[in-house]
Amino acid sequence: MTEWWRDAVFYQVYPRSFADGDGDGQGDLAGLTARLDAIAALGVDALWLTPFYPSPMVDGGYDVADYTDVDPRYGDLAAFDRLLAAAHAAGLRVTIDLVPNHCSSEHRWFRDAIEAAPGSPERARFLVRDGRGPGGAQPPTNWGSVFSGASWTRFPDGQWYYHLFDPTQPDFNWANPEVAEEFERILRFWLDRGVDGFRIDVSDALIKDFDAGDTPGGHPVIPKGASSPLHEHYRAFRRVMDDYDGDRMAVLETGAPAEEVALLVRPDEMHLAFDLALTKARWTAPALHEAIEEGLAVARLSGAPATWVIENHDLPRAVTRYGADVELSGEYVPETEHEDAGGPDLEQGTRRARAAAVLLCSLPGAVYLFQGQELGLPEVEDLPDDVREDPVFHRSGGTTRGRDGCRVPLPWEGSEAPYGFGPEGSAPWLPQPEVFAGLRRELQERDPGSMLALYRELLTTRKAHTVLREGTLEWLAAHEVPGGSAGDVLAFRLRGAEESAVVVVNTGPDVVPVAPGYLVSSSVPRAALAGGLPRDAAVVVVEPTSDQENQ
Ligand code: GLC
Repeated sequence: MTEWWRDAVFYQVYPRSFADGDGDGQGDLAGLTARLDAIAALGVDALWLTPFYPSPMVDGGYDVADYTDVDPRYGDLAAFDRLLAAAHAAGLRVTIDLVPNHCSSEHRWFRDAIEAAPGSPERARFLVRDGRGPGGAQPPTNWGSVFSGASWTRFPDGQWYYHLFDPTQPDFNWANPEVAEEFERILRFWLDRGVDGFRIDVSDALIKDFDAGDTPGGHPVIPKGASSPLHEHYRAFRRVMDDYDGDRMAVLETGAPAEEVALLVRPDEMHLAFDLALTKARWTAPALHEAIEEGLAVARLSGAPATWVIENHDLPRAVTRYGADVELSGEYVPETEHEDAGGPDLEQGTRRARAAAVLLCSLPGAVYLFQGQELGLPEVEDLPDDVREDPVFHRSGGTTRGRDGCRVPLPWEGSEAPYGFGPEGSAPWLPQPEVFAGLRRELQERDPGSMLALYRELLTTRKAHTVLREGTLEWLAAHEVPGGSAGDVLAFRLRGAEESAVVVVNTGPDVVPVAPGYLVSSSVPRAALAGGLPRDAAVVVVEPTSDQENQ
């Protein structure tokens, strides 16, 4: 099939926490290769690997020291080639993370920039400015970093360099053609090796307008709109990718509004862009509706498919988020700020995460799952401070908990840590909580009522019914869903060439009737639907065709 990515299901692997082949407590490519069958058995189409490049790991590898190599903790290029070959043999495509906004301060270019003089070509690869005030001691703008604190740091000679994230993550100067050339080389390096695509980190923020000067709140000024040179860069990426056969693709990480995102996924730019609204939406029908509308708006405006996500490595696990009943705002907001002191209600959270899984796997377009989502893992909220690594935690002085809690190594088998993540007796880089014992994959594989069994069923159903992947979505008003109580029910019809389906999610306390038709998916056991669709549950029914109706 051409353009396989249009309705594909991608599985996000955080290599450091997936499987540890050599027992050093950190996941690696050999560990992942040995466990690929578990991913293939889930029924996904492709992998997305977060960065595995040489890195000081200040930001979990999003501080890249060398874009065309493998960090020794993960293996080497030969291990990558083995992974790629094994994945392809198992029918899985492989996509990798591209981090074009910034590198690590250990990157050769930045080491050179430190040594070089102001005004040198080495400095011109980064966003370097003189400071303001006497002796240039004031930073060029008042902009803050996404990870708290200032976004400017001084070189030893007094010039300032800009970093949207941590001071060890200097931003590249995309106005310098050398940067674009270097990224073309990096793209080709991995495309030549056979990767099927990329996930592009912080994709919408490559260009900054320092002339805008100080801003209220210290927000960075990132030029938007069709005239931004950003589009030229993605057109250039696209030309490189189109040089290769096999429908290579890229998905953008972006939190921009739909009109902006739509510009980035025009036919001559990139292929997909995450709709991250669902990762933050509260568990109410209007909030879910709004989040889905955002993804559909991009699709309507651009012709690119919507791309759905509920969890990733930057956000609290769904089970905990839905259990805490909160809305997340802004980017990189890892707090779940429990409304009651008792902590999240994980039973409620799991119920809702199951219903969310049914919804996610019944949305037209591409779908991304984050490792452990299929196991219903909760956020690990009680990690001791001294094991936390996320710069969000450290730079906020510990006031923001950070993102380590969704990155805890996966439980595979066995009743004690490391639960098969690594060899017996090895100590995972983040400690696994005891609750992982009951959620280990091997147990869930044998339990038809498990989250894993649900995801497997959902992905099988999604494959079997084209309408769930490619249908046209029409919202159903409360009165169109039999007995649907206004406000709490999210319902839509998917229309396809061969069949149509109705998806109903009940976020409210009252039982509602199940729409008529042939039940293909349910977040609760079928027996639990006898009286109707209970609270925090979702179903998908395939409707009788109009031919049958007319008979
Ligand atoms: C992206 C990544 C996040 C990282 C940030 C800076 O948002 O998903 O993990 O910290 O970029 O590279």
